[in-house]
Amino acid sequence: MEVVIGSAEQMAVLAADAVEELLSEKPDAVIGLATGSSPLALYAELARRHAERGLSFAQARAFLLDEYVGLPVGHPERYATVIERELTSHVDFAPGAVQVPDGAADDLEAACAAYEEAIAAAGGVDLQLLGIGTNGHLAFNEPCAPPTSRTHIETLTEQTRRDNARFFDGDLDAVPRLAMTQGLGTILDARHLVLLAIGPAKAEAVQHMVEGNLCETWPATVLQMHPHVTVLLDQEAASLLENAERYRAAWAGR
Ligand code: GLP
Repeated sequence: MEVVIGSAEQMAVLAADAVEELLSEKPDAVIGLATGSSPLALYAELARRHAERGLSFAQARAFLLDEYVGLPVGHPERYATVIERELTSHVDFAPGAVQVPDGAADDLEAACAAYEEAIAAAGGVDLQLLGIGTNGHLAFNEPCAPPTSRTHIETLTEQTRRDNARFFDGDLDAVPRLAMTQGLGTILDARHLVLLAIGPAKAEAVQHMVEGNLCETWPATVLQMHPHVTVLLDQEAASLLENAERYRAAWAGR
């Protein structure tokens, strides 16, 4: 696990560099997208590079990590709406190239299976962008999610619903109780994982993920099993790391 610590702005630039390098080597790459506030600066940077220097997603495909169940199509906080607003409407993905789990499907189990099949048919994910929940969740894999899980329906914890209430005008009752999420096993199949964590609320989860024991109560610790993970942290998210100086030295010496 490669750990990089700096400003939030620097981390957004590094994540954008990873996406740009991938697309220059493999224009038809498969990118895993995440929602939440953590990747917003990255998406703004990608949109800027597209507008100002022609960074193109025209041959690429993308899969979003997760989606709420129960929000009507067009709801501003549906992740399908969010990713369009924050990224895809600002760059040049081809129509249909960005797929989102269908949290409005009549048959949710069939939609989960179809999503797994679509990712596999695309050849798997080359670069998966990730955030982390304050409780260590990845996508919507809440504590005790099995590390081998595939796309499934997850019941959101009270903590996650409280954390996400800020996107619903602070109204906890408006936050869905269920989500469709790629499983931890699905995420671990991606060839490169790039996780962004920004702000003090993430410090405890980050400490477990990077330095804690592998355990299901902190789902992000599964990343310790992956051979190619880049963890991009601002100073606050890194504030509980015991070995921060070592990570800084290793990055500076690259
Ligand atoms: C959300 C999403 C995750 C995201 C996380 C952190 O609930 N399902 O994919 O990584 O929580 O969100 P934020 O970046 O807003 O803190």
